[in-house]
Amino acid sequence: MLQYVPQFRDRTFVIAIDGGAAASPNFSNTLLDIAALRSLSIHLVLVHGASAQITELAAQRGVTVSNVDGTGITDDVTLDLSIDAITRLTSTLMQHLTTKDLRAATTNAILAHRAGVIGGQDLEHTGRVDRVDEGSLRALLDDGIIPIVPPIGYDGQGNTLRVNSDEAACEVALRQGASKIIYVMDEMAGDGCPELPSECQFSIAEARDYLTATPLCAGWTSKWEHAIRACESGVPRVHLIPGWRGDAPLLEELFSNEGTGTMIFADAYHRIREAERADIEEMISMMRPGVEKDKLLYLSREEIQEKLSDYFVIEIDGNVVGSAALHVGPDKQLAELACLFIKRSHESQGYGKELVRFAEERARSIGVASLFALSTQASDFFTTVCGFVGGEAGILPADRRDAYEAHGRNSRVLVKELG
Ligand SMILES: CC(C)(COP(=O)(O)OP(=O)(O)OC[C@H]1O[C@@H](n2cnc3c(N)ncnc32)[C@H](O)[C@@H]1OP(=O)(O)O)[C@@H](O)C(=O)NCCC(=O)NCCS
Repeated sequence: MLQYVPQFRDRTFVIAIDGGAAASPNFSNTLLDIAALRSLSIHLVLVHGASAQITELAAQRGVTVSNVDGTGITDDVTLDLSIDAITRLTSTLMQHLTTKDLRAATTNAILAHRAGVIGGQDLEHTGRVDRVDEGSLRALLDDGIIPIVPPIGYDGQGNTLRVNSDEAACEVALRQGASKIIYVMDEMAGDGCPELPSECQFSIAEARDYLTATPLCAGWTSKWEHAIRACESGVPRVHLIPGWRGDAPLLEELFSNEGTGTMIFADAYHRIREAERADIEEMISMMRPGVEKDKLLYLSREEIQEKLSDYFVIEIDGNVVGSAALHVGPDKQLAELACLFIKRSHESQGYGKELVRFAEERARSIGVASLFALSTQASDFFTTVCGFVGGEAGILPADRRDAYEAHGRNSRVLVKELG
């Protein structure tokens, strides 16, 4: 997992924590991850919400509030109570970070203006983010201090305004040139929502389609919308993670290939390259589910290593997500496209096709006339998507045919003339 870490050194991540997530029993794990990220020299800005705390404080005081998330009307009573609840939560966060030996400072970095009248309703003390005081945040970050940004804005004329924390996180990330926003979500805010798609990655267009097709509750819709906006405006990655589960909710999402939440990306930086020794473990562990379901033939570390120069991998942001091998026969006329797989989390994004095209190009460039593949469960992929046709075992080179018969997997033989 840690091989992916160096690329984030000195980068800025905005961690946007829902009030409910900060109150969840699993928050101690989130805190440990925050400490781990700091120890990896990643700059962190913490933006927090406080809906859960405002709701709780209102109940304790027997007060009715006009809105809890900084999007509707914030009347005098609600503003007063929100400031209390937010200040307490900011202080609790500060206390938690201090116990982890992390230096933190509360900021007034959000400069806001009144939201005004929307749909005929005066939103009173609700604000919209105008500007972010980038200089003050940068000064803290450069000093190794974690800025805490509460969901409150100031308008410079003596007014305090309640702002929405999803919006604040998005604006802070844009102004700081952050590499990521990580929305740590509250389970309760998603009450009645369909389960978040986990281990999923969405392009901006796909995220928009998902939002149109899926009726999410208001809190989660707001995060999707801000994630899309952030990606459209220059933040490369936004992660939505369930703050209520996982031993290492942030680290698993950021540094494991599987992830725990949903990622929306501005662009997927990917490339195909030769496999290296350091990739072998990852390749074996990625292939394991395919081997268990008899989609792929088991290959040992030694077998891969012996022909390592035949293998190539596809990586996204430095993470290997798929692989294939091109074994060229001694006469260089026939080659096998073998061991093709794409991680489940990255299927159906065109990477399989890309690997096949890459193998074809490579084979063509060394004069190979035809390519064959053996497949148990993806033969339709080869025929309908990649232009292979069904063939007979008789076309296989003798050593390959013997192995094919010995395995008894009854794979289909697929052939493509490269022309
Ligand atoms: C088969 C595999 C390599 C396809 O890779 P992928 O990145 O998901 O596929 P792509 O995104 O490039 O292509 C998607 C297209 O392939 C089709 N497809 C994907 N897997 C398929 C399968 N097993 N059977 C039939 N069609 C399949 C999709 O329906 C889609 O079709 P469309 O373009 O008409 O919509 C991948 O699913 C995989 O690794 N599977 C498990 C291992 C395996 O079976 N490997 C082959 C053994 S040699």
